[in-house]
Amino acid sequence: MSQKKTVTVLGATGSVGTNTVELLGYHAEKFEVYGLTANSNAEKLAEQAIKLKARKAVIADQGKLAELRERLKGHNIEALAGEQALLELASEKVDWTMAAIAGFAGLDSLFAAVQRGGHIAIANKEPLVAAGHLLKTAAGKCSAVLLPVDSEHNAVFQCLETENKSSLSKITLTASGGPFLSWSYEEMRKATPEQAVAHPNWSMGQKISVDSATLMNKALEVIEAVIFFDLSPEQIDVVVHPQSLIHAFVSYSDGSVLTHMGPADMKVPILHALSYPQRLGTCTEELDIQKLSSLTFQAVDADKFPALNLAYRALEMGQGGCLALNAANEVAVRNFLEEKVLFTDIVDICTKILDMYEGPSQIQSVEMCRQTDERVRKLTESYIIDTYISQSAAI
Ligand SMILES: NC(=O)c1ccc[n+]([C@@H]2O[C@H](COP(=O)([O-])OP(=O)(O)OC[C@H]3O[C@@H](n4cnc5c(N)ncnc54)[C@H](OP(=O)(O)O)[C@@H]3O)[C@@H](O)[C@H]2O)c1
Repeated sequence: MSQKKTVTVLGATGSVGTNTVELLGYHAEKFEVYGLTANSNAEKLAEQAIKLKARKAVIADQGKLAELRERLKGHNIEALAGEQALLELASEKVDWTMAAIAGFAGLDSLFAAVQRGGHIAIANKEPLVAAGHLLKTAAGKCSAVLLPVDSEHNAVFQCLETENKSSLSKITLTASGGPFLSWSYEEMRKATPEQAVAHPNWSMGQKISVDSATLMNKALEVIEAVIFFDLSPEQIDVVVHPQSLIHAFVSYSDGSVLTHMGPADMKVPILHALSYPQRLGTCTEELDIQKLSSLTFQAVDADKFPALNLAYRALEMGQGGCLALNAANEVAVRNFLEEKVLFTDIVDICTKILDMYEGPSQIQSVEMCRQTDERVRKLTESYIIDTYISQSAAI
């Protein structure tokens, strides 16, 4: 009987997915890959599926099925396409699932995986921000173990003494500060998408790279931490640490502060989640502590980076506020990448949408979550058209 852990990777062709695939290849003797998914990148998905001898490869874009089939010809890998096929794959039984689809688009497959049970590694933070309470309840009912993959949350997870949770006073998430840490507000106003996605420490997908530049990523992570670790917003702090070597601090009431260090490489938290509760050897470069020259920490400049405070405001508004912040941000980031709004408009748009939000404060079902998300997206799109696009057309 095989002792291998069976695995599915949702969003295998992205930045987190590619790192996961690399680790699965490195530890091929320990894992049996059941399914891999992509949105439209059939070429990369086929390459990965062949390399890992996956049983199934699912592409969300139906139009890419013929290409995927052609590329998988001669290999014993089932090629499927469409959102329904992706959902079905997510709900098929495996021991471990990586949720690494970008954005709210990963909500349904993440829920499907959680409802099926097993270990679920969550990189895909947006569904957690929008519907974290529902996800946690579903996980509790289905005995799913949720493992955080965001490097900061994975660090907290490793430093958290569950038996001493009542003695935990606060957690501090580190933020690299992104590519614009030393830029003036005026310079940021003119930042291009290419400049915004050029992160100094991490190589990531476009959306999270822009979020790191606005610090909205940290705002989403504050919400994620409150929900994931069941803490109050006042217990979550953020500090800028440009070297990205310390990922979080966990402070206890006796004055002890536990911290987690590691190279700025997503393979480290992914491998932790992949091997949990054991530890496997890594294929990444080890951190040479003797070579560390200086570690610096500074407060977030809230005037320059107003996104962070939006997290606390959204949390005060309830799960609906968090959902609205996430939806408005996804729409605003897309409009920035399409060069329809400026970089600094992203956070202004999110602020305005929170001002205008009249939806429910509590989200009681996945259906309610989807509907509210859709309404906020429509509101944000029309706000952007009225405020930025029609205005500039009129000039
Ligand atoms: N990158 C990091 O270092 C990092 C760190 C912490 C957390 N995260 C989180 O992890 C998630 C993934 O980030 P990433 O940087 O890996 O993103 P990414 O590079 O943009 O990759 C996204 C993946 O999701 C797939 N996908 C996108 N839209 C989809 C849809 N509508 N339906 C099905 N599949 C879809 C993409 O397929 P195609 O390739 O075919 O487009 C790709 O496989 C995000 O939530 C992010 O916040 C990322």
